Amino acid sequence: MHDTTALLRSAASDYTPADNSRFPKLHRRFPTTAYLRQHARSHVPSFAFEYMDGGAGGDGGIARNWNAFDAIELVPRYGVTTTLPAVDIELFGRRYSAPIGIAPMGGPSIVWPGADQYLAAAAQRARVPYVLGLVGGMMVEHAAEIAPDVLWFQLYRCFRNEHAIGFDLLRRAQAAGVHVLVLTADVPVRTTRPREVVAGITSPFQPDLRMFAAILRSPGYLQSLWKHGQPRFGNLKPYAGDTADVNEVAAFVRREMAGAFTWEEIGRYRERWKAPLVVKGLLHPADAERCVSLGVDGIIVSNHGGRQVEGLPTSVDVLPAIARAVGGRATVMVDSGIRSGLDVVRAVALGADAAFAGKAFLWGLGALGAEGPLHVIDLMIDEMRAAFGQIGARRPAQARSVVIRHPGALHF
Ligand SMILES: Cc1cc2nc3c(=O)[nH]c(=O)nc-3n(C[C@H](O)[C@H](O)[C@H](O)COP(=O)(O)O)c2cc1C
Repeated sequence: MHDTTALLRSAASDYTPADNSRFPKLHRRFPTTAYLRQHARSHVPSFAFEYMDGGAGGDGGIARNWNAFDAIELVPRYGVTTTLPAVDIELFGRRYSAPIGIAPMGGPSIVWPGADQYLAAAAQRARVPYVLGLVGGMMVEHAAEIAPDVLWFQLYRCFRNEHAIGFDLLRRAQAAGVHVLVLTADVPVRTTRPREVVAGITSPFQPDLRMFAAILRSPGYLQSLWKHGQPRFGNLKPYAGDTADVNEVAAFVRREMAGAFTWEEIGRYRERWKAPLVVKGLLHPADAERCVSLGVDGIIVSNHGGRQVEGLPTSVDVLPAIARAVGGRATVMVDSGIRSGLDVVRAVALGADAAFAGKAFLWGLGALGAEGPLHVIDLMIDEMRAAFGQIGARRPAQARSVVIRHPGALHF
């Protein structure tokens, strides 16, 4: 946690890239996330790039996510704004400096050892939501030390023994001061990603000789691995027994964690969790309405970043129908395909209260290591201020009144 202290400083909701003295220099080299992705490709061992960048099937879902955003046009109106817009927002009673957050990810430390800590520290510094993934390397209690003001926590379904582990994680999250609990609904089955398979990524992550050779060719990665060690199932390890080695923990996790939450189970989590509850991974308005009727506070429209199955609709194409169905009764958020602040503005214009990104943050880590995540946030904020300003929206919510061409919109 020590080299995260430089990132921490104060977390004020009026954070802007101007607060990061490193931004101008980094911006000259990496002015968009595409540059980060490009650099990450050669900066990390090839298996790490395949892990962060690969999707289900032939990556068709990822490509469609990106194309869907690219196709959305916002018609600007002029003669109104004179200053850069403010982009801070309120989510579940707390102020955040922009409508962008870090999506939950399992195993980001495969991309860059220590990733969870760097993601958490950047989110705290910039005051944007950070969703710690259950199967990531970091314990929720540790994350709460690094990111006390912005910590959300994601759970998969740990169903055995009447959800004993799931409910214990909920208790720990509550004790750690997690702001929002996120239940991931969209992994009813485990799927494989061909690029990961070919790269030799396994669970638990255990580099073979070929991978070690690749690590030796990436000195920055090697140094970070030396410092942080290999990724482990931080949150789940305590339940596997004191003597369990990493293989036993992985087998335990596979056994305990399976299937999608049922509505009845979501209702039980709702009863027990006394703070805001979000369900992630919805693509149908009727499922969103069901969540609202169960008392869920927010939903994240998502196709898991194209990583589960290729043939799902893109989340941005179903977003307007879902936002209409929810009708302001819950907070509507979106992920899958966000690569820029402009994409965030498109999502907000189509009815999202906030957006999350996964891969873009991993590209930042892959290209820049510890300082990558903050640079991604800086880029996103910088770009969204430009885009909101261009369309005449002084505040994010005003983007809702622009005329939008959305060729892929799905009508239910
Ligand atoms: C490497 C990786 C691991 C992920 N692991 C999880 C996870 O453990 N839980 C979860 O709910 N979503 C997980 N996701 C999905 C993200 O939360 C998010 O839905 C997705 O990355 C958004 O799409 P984007 O990558 O295009 O931004 C993962 C995504 C990536 C890239």
